[in-house]
Amino acid sequence: MITGGAGFIGCHVVRLFVNSHPDYRIINVDKLTYAGNLANLKDIESSPNYTFVKGDICDFEAMLSLMRTHHVDGIIHLAAESHVDRSISDPFTFAQTNVMGTLSLLQAARICWEESPERYEGKRFYHISTDEVYGALAMTMPEGELSDRSAHKVYGNDFFTEDKKYQPHSPYSAAKASSDHFVRAFHDTYGMPTVVTNCSNNYGPYQFPEKLIPLFINNICHRRSLPVYGQGLNVRDWLYVEDHARAIDLIFHKGRTAETYNIGGHNEWRNIDIVRLLVSTTDRMLGRKENEDMNLITYVTDRAGHDLRYAIDSSKLQQELGWVPSLQFEEGIERTVRWYLDNEQWLDNVTSGDYMNYYEKMYSGR
Ligand code: NAD
Ligand code: DAU
Repeated sequence: MITGGAGFIGCHVVRLFVNSHPDYRIINVDKLTYAGNLANLKDIESSPNYTFVKGDICDFEAMLSLMRTHHVDGIIHLAAESHVDRSISDPFTFAQTNVMGTLSLLQAARICWEESPERYEGKRFYHISTDEVYGALAMTMPEGELSDRSAHKVYGNDFFTEDKKYQPHSPYSAAKASSDHFVRAFHDTYGMPTVVTNCSNNYGPYQFPEKLIPLFINNICHRRSLPVYGQGLNVRDWLYVEDHARAIDLIFHKGRTAETYNIGGHNEWRNIDIVRLLVSTTDRMLGRKENEDMNLITYVTDRAGHDLRYAIDSSKLQQELGWVPSLQFEEGIERTVRWYLDNEQWLDNVTSGDYMNYYEKMYSGR
């Protein structure tokens, strides 16, 4: 059972599991909020080992019934409210989905698994979390170097390791932190075989265009302004989404129970450098004059509580399971911009709201 499989990362995980594990029956449970889009899974929706169920993870009875009916033995839990800016204006929804939704799934899994003769044997509850739970790291790079645009370097000497103290700053990260605690509590209290991963910023195809990279690609195409928060000096550690999906597959199968693994790209970029790279790449691919659209960059009021720097130390995952990111950022950005330009219809359907009718069209009467 994969929750949130119609979202950005979820659709890559569902696709990977459906294609590379034909002997598994994959059940994708998604409420189809504004962030869920079944068109993300068009290529695999008719696969014999794939089932979509429209459902709310907060609905405990429905989750329990689903797990019993399908004899669910593994759960990869991605469903969440994921956008920091939305959490600032609507924190209740984030607490409800991310905390209560996770608790509801945990309790349903506990009841379902405890009533089977083999109990927790051969079972796994895998919770997908974020590096944002650790709070923000300092930037220790000398001031002078900040004018260097070449980026792609390390901006400090401190990193998020698995034993870093939780210090969430946004309602989003506070809710994710709380859900992580519940998952660990279910291991410690009931013996549930859990595993948690905390990943850095993902980018790639099918990301909802409210997040920095797809929003800005779309805006460059339509020559709309590019709203850079504050001075654009905040640093994020970017990972191509398919590399995250590969890590999830590996950890689901080989990760040690009750462990936490950090996943990241060793790929720190200041926002402003990414924005410039997006402008030059998109302009080039559209056949416009290189950098023609740099004037779209607009500095706007900073995000409240904006974390300065995220940087993951993923050496535990690399050493224990041999995972390494496969793509250099520049190549990943080329692929990503190309994908959004080639999939204008997908982007138009999302921005116009048309994508919300996909479920009715495809699944009504089934
Ligand atoms: P997303 O917003 O693109 O997708 C979330 C999905 O969850 C959507 O399909 C939505 O319909 C579904 N959903 C929301 N509420 C639900 C509910 N109550 N019941 C069932 N389904 C529901 O998110 P994403 O960016 O793909 O992130 C997926 C997970 O990975 C989240 O848990 C997020 O915290 C985590 N994460 C994301 C990133 C990132 O950079 N995007 C990085 C690290 C961790
Ligand atoms: O670190 C992992 C997290 O990455 C995930 O847990 C979240 O679900 C995911 O949304 C992402 O959070 P961020 O807040 O880092 O991503 P976002 O794309 O919203 O913003 C990236 C950076 O760009 C951040 O520093 C804020 C800035 N930004 C963002 C937007 C949308 C801008 O300057 N302007 C914008 O319009």
